[in-house]
Amino acid sequence: MRIGVLASGSGSNLQALLDRFNLGADPAARVVLVIGSRPGIRSLERAAAATVRAEVLPSALDPAGQVAEEDEPFLRRCLAETEVELVVLAGYLRLVPAAVVREYWGRMINIHPALLPSFGGQGMYGRRVHEAVLARGCKVTGVTIHFVSEEYDRGPVVAQWPVPVLEEDDASSLAGRVLEVEHRLLPAVVSAIARRRVALAPDGRVRWTGSLFRTERFAAVPGEGWTIEPE
Ligand code: GAR
Repeated sequence: MRIGVLASGSGSNLQALLDRFNLGADPAARVVLVIGSRPGIRSLERAAAATVRAEVLPSALDPAGQVAEEDEPFLRRCLAETEVELVVLAGYLRLVPAAVVREYWGRMINIHPALLPSFGGQGMYGRRVHEAVLARGCKVTGVTIHFVSEEYDRGPVVAQWPVPVLEEDDASSLAGRVLEVEHRLLPAVVSAIARRRVALAPDGRVRWTGSLFRTERFAAVPGEGWTIEPE
């Protein structure tokens, strides 16, 4: 399956995909396109290092931000030219134009560093999410991967994985542990979608054949015993 990744920042999730599919041994998928929302970000360097086509949104190149309407045809053209079959938003902080969301409905996923529908929505990204989780006193947070709809963080959930909040956590330590899970969950889910083990059904619900998780391990004590392994 041909994967297009949209990214805004460091791109460690992009790297997890590159490591498994482009540089590693899983033949189910391949990253063929990376689009950055700004020039100079590490995600674009990672794409170049893996010899993947890298592009920057036209609006990011215009200091006055006057050309945002050009992003929609640009995205569609890049995705079509590279024959992308699944779009992955990996730390992408912009709203995807509605027409692109509609065109890729059921074929576009987003990764979010909390258990949606909690701690999502516009402005809830990166460190802010973890600060909000800590401020609320939550004992469990986690990672959500969902199909993208026209509203921020509201599309049908594909997979989730919990991460315990520890007494001594600050936003950085929590972000680090959540990110470790992201790096395992995202490639596992992309591989499952590429192998047609999970898809968005016509009724709008996500259907798995088999499970992403080994149930007995999922039920294990929070901490090191939790593993993500496609069956
Ligand atoms: C990740 O934690 C991702 O879940 C989050 O941004 C980070 C990007 O890291 N995304 C959001 O908060 C989206 N609402 P990365 O650039 O190193 O992959």
